[in-house]
Amino acid sequence: MRRRRAKVTIVGAGNVGHSAAQWIVSRRLADVVLVDVIEGMPQGKALDLSEAAPIEGFDLRVTGTNGYDETADSDVVVIVAGVARKPGMSREDLLTVNAGIVKGVTQEVTKRSPHACLIVVTNPLDVMVYLAYKVSGFPPEQVVGQSGALDSTRFRAFIAEAVGVSVQDVSAMVIGAHSDTHMVPLASLATVGGIPLRQLLPPERIARLVERTRLGGAEIVNLLKTGSAFFAPGAAITQMIEAILLDRKRVLPLSAYLTGQYGVRDLYVGVPAVLGAGGVERIFEIPLEGEERAAFDRAVANIRENVALLKL
Ligand code: 2OP
Repeated sequence: MRRRRAKVTIVGAGNVGHSAAQWIVSRRLADVVLVDVIEGMPQGKALDLSEAAPIEGFDLRVTGTNGYDETADSDVVVIVAGVARKPGMSREDLLTVNAGIVKGVTQEVTKRSPHACLIVVTNPLDVMVYLAYKVSGFPPEQVVGQSGALDSTRFRAFIAEAVGVSVQDVSAMVIGAHSDTHMVPLASLATVGGIPLRQLLPPERIARLVERTRLGGAEIVNLLKTGSAFFAPGAAITQMIEAILLDRKRVLPLSAYLTGQYGVRDLYVGVPAVLGAGGVERIFEIPLEGEERAAFDRAVANIRENVALLKL
């Protein structure tokens, strides 16, 4: 018998952090600890969310803190902390400032939760997850980046709207880098009720959906003007947490450590993988062709260039 409920720590209690917390408790997945440097903010959000429990009917503890002691023995730690984009900024513009934050947070959480699975969300994502992996000293399967789960839900939402069908029947995947220019939505593998998307929409329409997906994060930044997306990111984080805590072995695109797959070594790149209690349990190496292969290779080169800026 499990001695206690599952525990998830979210470092960074801004919009993405609290959105994830809300999805997590509404799905009854785990106790949640929200950590942030801003005094009172994580405590206030945790209390507010706890007060919704009688209505929503969840018997889970939500704690807010400015320290790390409350995070001890977490099953999953989500690192969201960092600066978000403003209009006109790329995710890469955030590299230096967020690297310092991610490094410090990783040190704090890993010493208190040495068996946790780390999910990194801070941008530029594929670089930050590599940094967290190096700083943590964890095995690579225990450190994963949230990118493709978010980009794929956007792609699926756009496809469902364009075809006029339920989102539930749309299967689609985005790999490569979590970047406006280097994301690789795999239109060739997208299906609607098992029917290839290419049989349902003309190429120029699909090209527009691919482009909208690549710029999906920026579209929200430009509308909000003061921050970036949080509902879909929070839901994507929760989907990954659920896969880990319930050992669902979900097949999701995520930023995983490659050891030769796709001809890439020692780098985190968005690829399809199996996520379960063991973290990233398996990576699927699928054949990529033509422009999709070329775009994936450009994404790898771009991530490698950005990792080099870390001077690890
Ligand atoms: C996004 O794509 C913030 O990277 C995040 O919305």
